[in-house]
Amino acid sequence: MNGKFPQHFLWGGAVAANQVEGAYQADGKGLSTSDLQPQGIFGAITPRTEGDSGIKDVAIDFYHRYPEDIALFAEMGFKCLRTSIAWTRIFPQGDEETPNEAGLAFYDRLFDEMAKYGIQPLITLSHYEMPYGLVKHYGGWGDRRTIDFFERYARTVFERYKHKVKHWLTFNEINMSLHAPFTGVGLPQESDKSAIYQAIHHQLVASAKAVKACHEIVPEGKIGNMLLGGILYPLSCKPEDLLETQRQNRDWLFFGDVQARGYYPAYMQRFFRENGIQVAITEEDRQTLRETIDFISFSYYMSGCVTADPEQYETARGNILDMVPNPHLASSEWGWQIDPIGLRYLLNVLYDRYQKPLFIVENGLGAKDRVEADGSIHDDYRINYLNDHLVQVAEAIDDGVEVMGYTSWGPIDLVSASKAEMSKRYGFIHVDRDDAGNGSLARRRKKSFFWYRDVIHSNGASLKDRR
Ligand code: BG6
Repeated sequence: MNGKFPQHFLWGGAVAANQVEGAYQADGKGLSTSDLQPQGIFGAITPRTEGDSGIKDVAIDFYHRYPEDIALFAEMGFKCLRTSIAWTRIFPQGDEETPNEAGLAFYDRLFDEMAKYGIQPLITLSHYEMPYGLVKHYGGWGDRRTIDFFERYARTVFERYKHKVKHWLTFNEINMSLHAPFTGVGLPQESDKSAIYQAIHHQLVASAKAVKACHEIVPEGKIGNMLLGGILYPLSCKPEDLLETQRQNRDWLFFGDVQARGYYPAYMQRFFRENGIQVAITEEDRQTLRETIDFISFSYYMSGCVTADPEQYETARGNILDMVPNPHLASSEWGWQIDPIGLRYLLNVLYDRYQKPLFIVENGLGAKDRVEADGSIHDDYRINYLNDHLVQVAEAIDDGVEVMGYTSWGPIDLVSASKAEMSKRYGFIHVDRDDAGNGSLARRRKKSFFWYRDVIHSNGASLKDRR
């Protein structure tokens, strides 16, 4: 394959603070909502006492080992690394007037280390976590005051890192709050739809305020949103299936519509009315929402199918959403259906809809790896998955879609989000740690490490069209 990826394409990988850093109480960090979910984002919410009890408390100890990890990313030729800032390192409870200097200093060290190798940071302001203090004392995003706390945090980090970080994202997979409200907006899991949409509205306003602040503070900065790109196909060509698919795709496209266009789409009025959902939106909120993102970013792992007769089919839990399986696709060991063409389709859908540059900020295969007696790991399944998806990215670029970059999920093994497992591995780099927390944390290059290095060095020319 030749010449399809643009010259300055941002190749790299993506991680999140709560899945790699560990050090969950170091240097004044406060408890985050993620710290209260030791079993992952669908697990029980557990009050924490002192001491290590969850796998994420140490995770892969990126907080202390980042120089080694960044050097390995550089060896693969990364141009970009996506990670998040843990809000609780900067504002431990969320409502302080002044930030925690030790937390700010950590990210200075991290970004300086990346700069040594010319790796550009792509930073998510909030990746599946917020200060637990804001949940406890204010009810999370259910309370408007959280908008101001978030804006203070965003302005603080923009000011601090404005010369080091040029690419920012507001909320990771902002649409997932509909399915995991504690993780997304700090509300109880059993909250009703009005409460969830009200909290989502506050988060959308906060996102727009962060966009405005970024534009004011960061010279040449670009800021995007982040969607879980859960593209859905009709299970059949029955008109009812098609209509239901459009409705369900709008459940998540709604977020992109507000963030990219600056107002609530017309279809939401009927949706709110027919579902008895009340959302208080002020005139000032409407003005704030007008500040729109510069680019769209999204995660893509799988597609799914929709039927108007769901009781007739079994659904399977995929990446956050329950979907009807597609009979034409194979699945990963975790039941996520593998659909490289879906990525090309999704890129085209989003570009047609928004005409803004797109950034694929998560894509990858969670799989069990076997370490051979000589220490090698032959992860051809991962190479094939990534290769086939990247071939489709090249096709989309050829279709005319503007793609800024690609950061594969979990370039180094990390704690999985859904169930807090180590055994679900995404990395090019293996980390010696198991689900019970045993292991030396040593890093080891997998076969895919050398494969990805070649892809980056050849700017995609080494990819193989295996169709
Ligand atoms: C996305 C999240 O939903 O999927 C990541 O943004 C997450 O945080 C990734 O890790 C893969 O999901 P999982 O459950 O396999 O870790």
